[in-house]
Amino acid sequence: MGHVFLTRPLGDVVEQFRPQLAEELNIPLRIHPDPGSPPTREEMLEAVRGAEAIISLVTDRIDAELLDAAGEQLKVVANVAVGYDNIDLDAAAQRNVTVTNTPGVLDEAVADLTLALILATTRRVVEGDRFIRTGEPWIWGPKDWVGLDVSAGATLGIIGLGRIGMAVAKRAHAFGMRIIATGRRAHDDDARALGVVPAASVDELLPAADIVSLHCPLTPETTHLIDAGALGSMKPGSYLINTGRGPLVDEEALADALDSGHLAGAGLDVHEFEPEINPRLRAMESAVLLPHIGSAGDATRNAMASLALRNAVAVLSGDEPLTPVS
Ligand code: GLV
Repeated sequence: MGHVFLTRPLGDVVEQFRPQLAEELNIPLRIHPDPGSPPTREEMLEAVRGAEAIISLVTDRIDAELLDAAGEQLKVVANVAVGYDNIDLDAAAQRNVTVTNTPGVLDEAVADLTLALILATTRRVVEGDRFIRTGEPWIWGPKDWVGLDVSAGATLGIIGLGRIGMAVAKRAHAFGMRIIATGRRAHDDDARALGVVPAASVDELLPAADIVSLHCPLTPETTHLIDAGALGSMKPGSYLINTGRGPLVDEEALADALDSGHLAGAGLDVHEFEPEINPRLRAMESAVLLPHIGSAGDATRNAMASLALRNAVAVLSGDEPLTPVS
């Protein structure tokens, strides 16, 4: 008998599926016991052996070797994430394995965090907090800790206006920001209603924005989308925000742009060599660095886990998955 393998404990929301898997499908659920760290590669290759479904997280590399280790009975890989760059889609398709993700349920949480990073970088929130904690004497000064007025018509450039980008645009519009965007929804009526001006290309968008925020998927084409050339064409004194995927940005080039003062700040929730953090960025006051927490709202994380489990149950029951990766 096969099993469903979940690569990290995800709490009570998962336990609700255990009876259904056992009673209706006669499939046991096995969960890697450590919430703090993913299975090692060896543990993973062993744990998937004979699995009919793998519920994976962004930290799990699902490639041909792993799919083969699982075996021919494997039917579905349900990723608990909207992104799926950790999965080799071609290898899955060659083996008739369905891949699903969790779109739609994390848009608001990621957009909230994007705004948090915009405000944290432009208004120097983390820098100010770090200063206060030094205990150094200080007095209010008119030129101290001055940053960018986002609500006074600053222009936000959204690269990749999809679901999450739209949720960011709604918030930016409410803040009084101007918005330009590339992406599949940039010409939609609801984008126009928020004042979104479509940009013909990333090259057109970069020099026009005070803040650039990345919301496109990571693919071979978008790897290092923001490289030295792209950073050079951004406005002097502008800001870069990344809540998408780390390798969209060439971090050494970003460190150069911050070092030279060409960019005023960067807010990164994701990192090029995650979980490694670029040591130059780590040493910079102008970089706000977070541990990939874009979707880390309690309800959001539960909704993601639930959607992944429902996708797996659907495929194991012979039904269409709710949110297949196309
Ligand atoms: C998180 O990074 C996700 O892709 O859902």
